[in-house]
Amino acid sequence: MDCLNIKKDLEQLITGQVLYQEPMQNHTTWKVGGAVDIMVLPFDATDIQRIIHYASKAGLPLYIFGNGSNLLVLDKGIRGIVIKLNKCIDNIEIKDNIVVAGAGALLPKVARIAVSGGLKGLEFAIGIPASVGGAVTMNAGAHGNCISEVIQEVKVVTTDGEVKTIPVNSLNYGYRSSRIKDEGHIVVEAVFKLTPGDASELKRIITKNMDFRRNRQPLNYPNAGSVFKNPLGESAGRLIDEAGCKGQRVGQAKVSEVHANFIVNLGGAKASDIFCLINQVREKVKARFGIALELEVQIMGEA
Ligand code: EPU
Repeated sequence: MDCLNIKKDLEQLITGQVLYQEPMQNHTTWKVGGAVDIMVLPFDATDIQRIIHYASKAGLPLYIFGNGSNLLVLDKGIRGIVIKLNKCIDNIEIKDNIVVAGAGALLPKVARIAVSGGLKGLEFAIGIPASVGGAVTMNAGAHGNCISEVIQEVKVVTTDGEVKTIPVNSLNYGYRSSRIKDEGHIVVEAVFKLTPGDASELKRIITKNMDFRRNRQPLNYPNAGSVFKNPLGESAGRLIDEAGCKGQRVGQAKVSEVHANFIVNLGGAKASDIFCLINQVREKVKARFGIALELEVQIMGEA
């Protein structure tokens, strides 16, 4: 694959930016991951449609990600094209009880704007370091609430390059899952339906939620949030803790002593360190409780 030619082709085709051999460690909150052949920062839905058509015609693998906050990219990086939806398509508009946000807008920013406008429903999202696109795809959640409860509809580009608006009742939302994820659609815009609330009370709730995170999660080291999903009626953090994994290390990756479902990068960790630690934790929990933990983070690329 001649990546420089692909870069040239895409630059002629789209309005957004095209990067070549871009290190993914600069685009993930874990700060690990090798380079992707081509990274594209689209300007709008039309750019996304054009990239999909180009990749499909050229037979190139195409991936999509947002803030990289839930992502382990392996050390040899990614072959093909990555569309990054962050710091682009990031409009946020409020009208009455409705907030419309572009896929690249950061969820905490949307939550803060909603709260300032006296709109209730997104307070849980204040500390989730995700893009709207990622959060809507994964059905991100915290503090007992999740995105699907406040979504009205989502505008996506399908894998065939068609722009479609899907109402929430057709999105098959479940715990950290959705039809968008299953079918590989690319989110362009989300419409949130909120309810009127008292701005000062809502501000008090977001401060409480931020404090919870600061006290209970290791935010001072690069991490990807919860590594595993909570098994039904159980807590992955408690299981990993009780299996004795806290403080366990592989290279510069460590199971956090603050919250056992977090793996922190102490500085210069390789993806292989994190990957190895994930497997060790899984084995220990399986041996102790007979429970096979499922990953919440997504793994991409070549080892
Ligand atoms: N626990 C332990 N040891 C630990 C960590 C937790 O025993 O090291 C226990 C806690 O004492 C508590 C239980 O496990 O009884 C649950 O812990 P916590 O309240 O911290 O919540 P969580 O289920 O681990 C979930 C989300 C987080 C979100 C918090 C707060 C998942 C997988 N994780 O964590 O989301 O911030 O609730 O609402 O659903 C994320 O998805 O990346 C994420 C950080």
